[in-house]
Amino acid sequence: MSLFRLDASIRVEGSASREIADIVEAEWRAGNPAAPVTRRHVGTEPLPATAWGAAVAGAYLPADQRTPEQAEALALAATLTDELVDAEALLFAVPLYNFGVAQHFKSWVDLVITDPRMGPGSEPPLAGKPAVLVTVRGGNYSAGTPREGWDHATGWMQRVLADVWQLDLRVVEREFTLVGVNPALDAFADLADQLKATAEREAAEHGRLLSSSRVAA
Ligand SMILES: Cc1cc2nc3c(=O)[nH]c(=O)nc-3n(C[C@H](O)[C@H](O)[C@H](O)COP(=O)(O)O)c2cc1C
Repeated sequence: MSLFRLDASIRVEGSASREIADIVEAEWRAGNPAAPVTRRHVGTEPLPATAWGAAVAGAYLPADQRTPEQAEALALAATLTDELVDAEALLFAVPLYNFGVAQHFKSWVDLVITDPRMGPGSEPPLAGKPAVLVTVRGGNYSAGTPREGWDHATGWMQRVLADVWQLDLRVVEREFTLVGVNPALDAFADLADQLKATAEREAAEHGRLLSSSRVAA
């Protein structure tokens, strides 16, 4: 059972999203000792920023009328889509940046959607595929907090992955990753520890489910 893993953190050292995703992957690996993993590090090896516009324009044209840039962008979209279609389980690790969707993840989604298999009107080729989204946030956006409603990323990601692409999605969220980094948050040390432990436990559970053929309903 092959795995596709995408990381959108712009850093490698100290990345909380990678740490949680590593737990998911390790549990998946335990059930799939020899299976291949395809990786996309979109945060540290971003896709070309001009690819999406070229792919959108090129998609309106017959193949023989596309510019080389448009053809290349659509070939890249096809490669990204192949990576998803070919994998039997999917893992996404995406931090919250500036209250919105991490730009490299958004660029990746936008480009994937230019592929005819993934666009509007197509039968979703990923329907029912088991997937885990790990998302981390430096702050805390839970009900009753001053910034309740300011996380404009998680809902969008769930909408695309679960509703548009129809993945069988589980989500692991870890908040307060900036506790211990930002002294203004020192008062929340105990809560941050609890949230981390919960996220780690959920990551292990979801990783085990990923390693079976289908995530349980
Ligand atoms: C440029 C930048 C913007 C950020 N914006 C937010 C934000 O809007 N809300 C938030 O809760 N955390 C924000 N953070 C904190 C990150 O979500 C947090 O550090 C997270 O752990 C980053 O993921 P990583 O540890 O996998 O690198 C931001 C961090 C950076 C570097």
